Amino acid sequence: MAEPSAGSSRELSAAPARLVVLVSGSGTNLQALLDACADPAYGAEVVAVGADRPGIEGLARAERAGIATYVLPVKDFASREEWDAALMETTAGHAPDLVVSAGFMKLLGPSFLARFGGRTINTHPALSPAFPGTRGPADALEYGVKVSGCTLFVVDEGVDTGAIVAQTAVPVEDDDTVETLHERIKVAERAMLVDTVGRMVREGFAVEGRRVRIGR
Ligand code: GRF
Repeated sequence: MAEPSAGSSRELSAAPARLVVLVSGSGTNLQALLDACADPAYGAEVVAVGADRPGIEGLARAERAGIATYVLPVKDFASREEWDAALMETTAGHAPDLVVSAGFMKLLGPSFLARFGGRTINTHPALSPAFPGTRGPADALEYGVKVSGCTLFVVDEGVDTGAIVAQTAVPVEDDDTVETLHERIKVAERAMLVDTVGRMVREGFAVEGRRVRIGR
């Protein structure tokens, strides 16, 4: 893993920050970032979208926006380590300032984090540290919590364990299904992602242990 502060505090400059977004599915978080980046005042541009599977709406959204894409399925590699190294190399080819994992359903490995640790963020549809993993909304519903939400964090080697950048609370309604709860969370998640990424690239940020500070 990189030094805790490496790459985590960006010098302010006139050029928009370069974002690479990683997706595995519908890409509504990606779309929210694409829409935000249309305003030059936002301070960022999506330079490439990477995926671990072909044929997903997230890739179609990127293609419609004229953005470079790459697809690296794990099964195309002899080992998880080789896949991770290839993901790192391909991502590095786009020279991102910040990597945004937005619904990317794979754990990033040691090669990727050695290069992009401290400047890779992920969004999770639960209030960490509760309900990590791929079943966040289902686990929250099963547990019976009255409030759940979403968490934006700096990716580390764990499952949804990284230092928290932002969180938004979302109420759980009595008649919620996994789908209705997840959709309500995703509305909050997109707003949190757009707001927070914008502030990170415009104001800079620092990761100090488990504390993340945006701005100087
Ligand atoms: C989001 O809720 C994300 O946190 C979770 O999967 C969802 C992806 O949604 N891991 P989308 O692909 O951005 O629409």
